[in-house]
Amino acid sequence: MVNLHDIRYLRIGTGHLEDAIEYCTRIVGLQLVAREGGAAYFRSDKAPVRGDTRDHTLVYCAGDPREHSIGFDLKDHESLDAAAADLERAGYPVRAGTRAECEQRRVRDFIATEDPSGNRIEIVVRPHHSGVRYFPARDAGITHFSHIGLRTRDAPKDEAFWTRICNARVSDWIGEAPLLRIGTVHHSLALFPSTFPGVQHINHQVEDIDDIMRSYYFLREQGVRIVFGPGRHATSSAVFLYFEGPDGMVYEYSTGVKHIAPEAEAAYRPRQFPFTPESFCIWGSKPDIPEFRAHAAADGSRQDRAGANEVALESALR
Ligand SMILES: [Fe+2]
Repeated sequence: MVNLHDIRYLRIGTGHLEDAIEYCTRIVGLQLVAREGGAAYFRSDKAPVRGDTRDHTLVYCAGDPREHSIGFDLKDHESLDAAAADLERAGYPVRAGTRAECEQRRVRDFIATEDPSGNRIEIVVRPHHSGVRYFPARDAGITHFSHIGLRTRDAPKDEAFWTRICNARVSDWIGEAPLLRIGTVHHSLALFPSTFPGVQHINHQVEDIDDIMRSYYFLREQGVRIVFGPGRHATSSAVFLYFEGPDGMVYEYSTGVKHIAPEAEAAYRPRQFPFTPESFCIWGSKPDIPEFRAHAAADGSRQDRAGANEVALESALR
């Protein structure tokens, strides 16, 4: 069993690095902490204890916007070899990160693999923390990078990867889509059916509902397309706002996500929600996000929208 501790970072490619930097700092409210070798590093943790801040949680790299790597750290730094062996035994080839790659990621060591859909996963040990606290360019009320929506080409198969080979647990399902927890937070990743792999949305938690509504008006004023919300998720109880980012990526602010405490683990049972708008938002907001709007990849209209996303990515590359 690969015992993951938490989601650590996301690295994504972009054909327009300067635009991505502008967006992350001026719109999202992340802090640009480093630029090197065509990569821009962003910090987002407002940690209550000095030194608990992750060195960085998001990296935009000059390159292909379809290239996404998600970093997770291990509970026990000494179990990296065992994790590699477990993955290999289960049929998932593993590659050890080079010294240069470890330095780029500010980690002691890491291994890279792919889930069944082809999503790139990096499992890291001893990632850097920062002695300098997060100081954003815009006060969006962000407290931390919290979760990602991940595309799946085969939800049950990917769910088995995350829950049988890794230690993720299903908190709830919406249709075929599992919302998976690693620690106590209701979900650190959620798998949404799609026709291609990659990150589907990027979540940052904000302090309270006032931050959600302040950002709603701010983003509208800035001409940023709101794609879902403000609303409240039926599953995690979080109040949310989704909006469009560079290269068609969806960003999310949310607050008030449910936690499942260690003492509640044994008694917890995941709930099955139907794949309907009400399962995504109990207030009645309707998502303008293809993966939240239609059922499985077999649905024709959904395929069309996913295809349109790919076309948007292709044009972003040009
Ligand atoms: Fe989310």
